[in-house]
Amino acid sequence: MSPLVLITGAASGIGWALAEAYAARGYRLALVVRDRAKLLQVLAHARLPEDQFHIYEADVADGEAMQRVADACVSQQGLPDVVIANAGISRGVMIERPEDWRVIEQTWRTNVLGVAHTLGPFVAEMRKRGTGRLVGMSSVAGVRGLPGHAAYSSSKAACTALCESLRADLRGSDVRVTVIMPGYIDTPLTRGNPFPMPFLMQADDFARRAIRAIDRGQAFAVIPWQMAIAAWLLKWIPAAWLDRALATQPRKPRGD
Ligand SMILES: NC(=O)c1ccc[n+]([C@@H]2O[C@H](COP(=O)([O-])OP(=O)(O)OC[C@H]3O[C@@H](n4cnc5c(N)ncnc54)[C@H](OP(=O)(O)O)[C@@H]3O)[C@@H](O)[C@H]2O)c1
Repeated sequence: MSPLVLITGAASGIGWALAEAYAARGYRLALVVRDRAKLLQVLAHARLPEDQFHIYEADVADGEAMQRVADACVSQQGLPDVVIANAGISRGVMIERPEDWRVIEQTWRTNVLGVAHTLGPFVAEMRKRGTGRLVGMSSVAGVRGLPGHAAYSSSKAACTALCESLRADLRGSDVRVTVIMPGYIDTPLTRGNPFPMPFLMQADDFARRAIRAIDRGQAFAVIPWQMAIAAWLLKWIPAAWLDRALATQPRKPRGD
């Protein structure tokens, strides 16, 4: 039986690029999406054999729905070899505006709880089997809190920490946890960004590199590698210098 990968947010951007790249490697796909019709449109161009994929519909913020997805996946396709918590949202916010608090909540429910809801249901079974790959799609934007990006930066910092805790919990087994920190990848999520995006990478190129890191069971992968330098600088630059450097940068737009 060929290996199986489960990917959330599979209907666009990085999620779909990962799905295509795994399919090309002979993996079977468990594709988790909110909107089946949107994925079917994407699949119409891909011409994957029907027995190579299965579609599950759920909102990753809904823990019970994600448990049902995991149960259905195990009974219909088997226990995945790789689970990728990829679904995420990114919107600018201003903390002083009460109408933005719901955006912060929605971002955390998707980008943090969504990761726990995606990976959690598979942990015990993978531990029992003794092998597996669990992946959290974090971001370089989670290394420090960026201006206008309180919701996203805080959610990605939490995503990284959540996955690190899980990695420590699984120490001693061959179930590896990988945190992937994309820099700027050309997807619908970044296309409206009104600021420069250094080392912008195409999603298919990103997917190939991410899969290499996942195969190796790396704890962290910053992709593209040049952004690892930016991440290191972001982490260690004194607060006053960081604030000055970012003061004139255009912000991520609020709302949709
Ligand atoms: N692109 C970048 O430069 C970049 C950089 C750093 C990190 N990332 C991370 O990479 C991941 C993928 O982003 P992307 O760039 O590929 O963006 P994208 O094209 O907007 O894809 C995000 C996917 O997540 C899905 N999604 C959002 N909320 C969901 C929910 N509550 N339940 C289920 N699915 C949900 C979306 O589904 P719908 O199609 O239904 O909206 C969409 O398919 C995200 O976690 C993002 O934060 C991206």
